[in-house]
Amino acid sequence: MIDTEFAPVSTVIGHRGAAGHTPENTLASLEKAAGLGVRWVEFDTKLTADGHVVLFHDDTLERTTGGRGAVAETTLADLRALDAGSWFDGGSQGAYAGERVPTLKEAMESLARLGLGAVIEIKPSPGRERETGLAVAGALAAGWPETLPAPLIASFEKTALGAAREAAPNIHRALNVFRIPRGWRNRVKALNCRAVHCLERNLTARRVRALKDEGLAVRAFTVNDPVRAGTLWRWGVDGVFSDYPERLLPFSRESHFSWP
Ligand code: G3P
Ligand code: MG
Repeated sequence: MIDTEFAPVSTVIGHRGAAGHTPENTLASLEKAAGLGVRWVEFDTKLTADGHVVLFHDDTLERTTGGRGAVAETTLADLRALDAGSWFDGGSQGAYAGERVPTLKEAMESLARLGLGAVIEIKPSPGRERETGLAVAGALAAGWPETLPAPLIASFEKTALGAAREAAPNIHRALNVFRIPRGWRNRVKALNCRAVHCLERNLTARRVRALKDEGLAVRAFTVNDPVRAGTLWRWGVDGVFSDYPERLLPFSRESHFSWP
């Protein structure tokens, strides 16, 4: 049983692991984030053709693997055969050549070993929003390591968040947005979200204050500049997602955590 009372999220969160240093959403990326001193990471999750939850950002394979086509039309076995590291650095001779697309189950095992908290973003392939929300939240409810702080589920997709709520009502949720939408209060309330995660350049001091006044945690993506992070923190932003978390950690107050 996930203890959601024990769920402080750190002020610096490794984005897709540590995407500036390693191929995003891989076990190497989680490992790197931990090595950089990060306490929490974010990663993206979606479903394979045969219904397995894997760590993957895009709907298609081309950018981050040697494969072609849609993730939603690729089985886990076929996905596992792909190289998810060579694209990043040095091709087939590079340090990450042969890195595999991890399952959520494998990622949870790594997180437990590394002692990392996680924001799990549900990134459904088009048309699979509900199915993905149910699968991700169900897997977290069943297999989240007891030694870790409770996970936080995030998504841009309200159907996925609704399904996650249905499958695991006690896991906190965050609404991801590119800009704070009109009517955000209703949207957040309808999904019973505890936090809003917004593209950093669309936040203002006033917006942050309004969100905080509603009792919501506010986090910003993606922030790689410590000066910008400092401004956001001054406005009251609770956490920032960063590809280069080590740039921000010296300026953060890592003893300060925010509740989902
Ligand atoms: O969860 C914050 C951030 O990861 C959202 O954008 O495209 O990097 O998944 P994206
Ligand atoms: Mg993401």
